[in-house]
Amino acid sequence: MSHMLHLAGIESVVLERAGREHVRTRLRAGVLEQGVVEMLRELGLGERLDQLALKQSALDFRFDGASRRIDFEAEIGRNVWVYPQHEVVTDLMNARQKAGAAIFYEAPVQRIDGLEGERPVLHFEHQGESCRLECDYVAGCDGFRGVSRSAIPADKLKVFDRIYPFGWLGILAEAPAATNEIVWGCHDGGFAMQSIRSPSVTRLYLQCAPDENPDHWSDDRIWSELHKRLDVEGMPPVNEGRVTQKGVTAMRSFLAEPMQWGRLFLAGDAAHIVPPTGAKGLNSALADIKVLARALVAHYREGADAHLARYSDTCLRRMWLVQRFSAGLCTMTHQFPGQNPFVQRLQRTDLDYMTGTRAGRLQFSENFTGLPVEA
Ligand code: PHB
Repeated sequence: MSHMLHLAGIESVVLERAGREHVRTRLRAGVLEQGVVEMLRELGLGERLDQLALKQSALDFRFDGASRRIDFEAEIGRNVWVYPQHEVVTDLMNARQKAGAAIFYEAPVQRIDGLEGERPVLHFEHQGESCRLECDYVAGCDGFRGVSRSAIPADKLKVFDRIYPFGWLGILAEAPAATNEIVWGCHDGGFAMQSIRSPSVTRLYLQCAPDENPDHWSDDRIWSELHKRLDVEGMPPVNEGRVTQKGVTAMRSFLAEPMQWGRLFLAGDAAHIVPPTGAKGLNSALADIKVLARALVAHYREGADAHLARYSDTCLRRMWLVQRFSAGLCTMTHQFPGQNPFVQRLQRTDLDYMTGTRAGRLQFSENFTGLPVEA
């Protein structure tokens, strides 16, 4: 956001609660939509991306003992790229640092005042001092637990929420992926995924209890479950390697409406959470930012405020489609405790339709590689 504003000659200040190294190294998502890759290149941030990112032109679904690939490049000529989120963050931090940007780390915002007036004020702490920042607009990019969303009066905000009765145990393994494709295992024993972080590091996920203790998963147990859920005849089995990281992610869908109040604009996790199945968290945050940056540029350059006024509607329309995709995939691919066998058969039929018909493959391909972002 601040990089995009900077390129348009608009000044901004970034207040970040965490420390620089925490922000730079925190492991998160790994898949970028085609539109996001194009946007990063257009912004002059494509150099390391073009060296390191691994293009993915298909996704391999495994269920009922067989592999059924959706080749989105063949279906619609679009792709996704595996490029870890911390690398995107590193590129952004480097670009901002080079431009001498005003970024305050370890600067938690306590309160935002005056959002209904012309000059909102952020109250924050930095190096043991209480500070205030007066500005024209506030971009609330401070995550699900940030203060921005809570600055909107409760009676102005409508919240939609679904918590899933399972989580993901995510591991990093020192091993090349068995195939150079993202693989989803939709198994009666639960969902599993093989993804990639680099040519020598595999990212793997296993559906588990939402409050699972990762210490209860020995390496032997992890590999045996991954083989059970992912391996099928005719395809190389999951490649084992040293497990270097293990953690549990809870799963939820969440959306707050509207995404704007007064001079505050919510973006990313501050406004919405998706279950990680569709790889849409980072991509959606960047879609919001694209809309917001363009709207602010139109305001400062042309005095045109129509884009700002439409920000929430523009983002919400796309975000509900992303929610639909993410929740739909999550529901289609995971085992729900105590699930009715009829519903279980419907899940299989949804997978069969999605992978086995042109209409199903097109719908998946368009959503997975990224819906358009409205100007
Ligand atoms: C990941 O690499 O973390 C990943 C890949 C594909 C998904 C979700 C997550 O659909």
